[in-house]
Amino acid sequence: MRLDKLLVLVFLGIFSPAGTPQDQDKLISGPGSTLTENKCKICHELQHIRRTPLSRGEWADNLKNMKERGTPMDDAEIAIILDYLAAYYGRDPAPPPSPDTLAAGGADPMQKLLNAHACTGCHTLAQRVVGPSFREIAAKYSSDATAPQRLAARIRAGGQGVWGQVPMPPNPGLSDADLKRLTGWVLEQK
Ligand code: HEC
Ligand code: HEC
Repeated sequence: MRLDKLLVLVFLGIFSPAGTPQDQDKLISGPGSTLTENKCKICHELQHIRRTPLSRGEWADNLKNMKERGTPMDDAEIAIILDYLAAYYGRDPAPPPSPDTLAAGGADPMQKLLNAHACTGCHTLAQRVVGPSFREIAAKYSSDATAPQRLAARIRAGGQGVWGQVPMPPNPGLSDADLKRLTGWVLEQK
């Protein structure tokens, strides 16, 4: 790195040689997380990623900017990093409207709740995206009387391994009432 660039980083306070221990500086693990960590830690703390949920388009612009600033990554790597950041550090309100997505009922209170907690970033009604579709989930648990409690606990705590190796992040901020509404609604999607 050129010295003048380094000075800019020090000035901005984003390059801290004596900062937090690097091994605690981690991203949510998922497909592409290690690549993203390795590339982005070259110049700054991962805090800059964690504190800024961006839309997919904004992450694409950010990656272009980071590449111009000297991040060594090729187009294939950028594509993986973009998918990773959009899925785990995204703030897109909903997937693009299509008859399949939930976006059709934009003003619906349940839709708002799903959007507010980013559920629709990973789940749609009938198609597998990052997570299983809500219909698949309802079908899987249709004859399971303990499903409401079990799924509520999983939505709150996050989890992995039931549907695949991609994890669902935890939702500690959900109120009990909202959690109950969401779980009940998901189980009705047959
Ligand atoms: C070659 C050095 C370098 C690398 C590697 C690098 N960045 Fe940056 N990053 C910077 C600089 C310099 C800034 C400071 C501010 C700016 O954008 O003007 C910055 C700022 C940021 C910001 C804050 C942007 C803003 O507008 O406030 C984010 C988010 C970010 N980087 C994400 C990433 C991601 C994701 C990666 C890995 C793909 C990455 N950076 C890799 C140099 C780098
Ligand atoms: C970052 C992506 C992501 C977000 C955001 C997300 N999920 Fe998930 N969800 C997943 C993945 C991936 C799985 C599958 C996890 C597994 O295999 O165990 C999943 C699984 C589930 C399951 C099934 C759990 C089981 O044990 O079978 C339910 C129900 C669910 N999600 C509801 C929600 C709700 C409601 C929200 C919003 C509050 C939400 N999800 C937000 C990715 C996500």
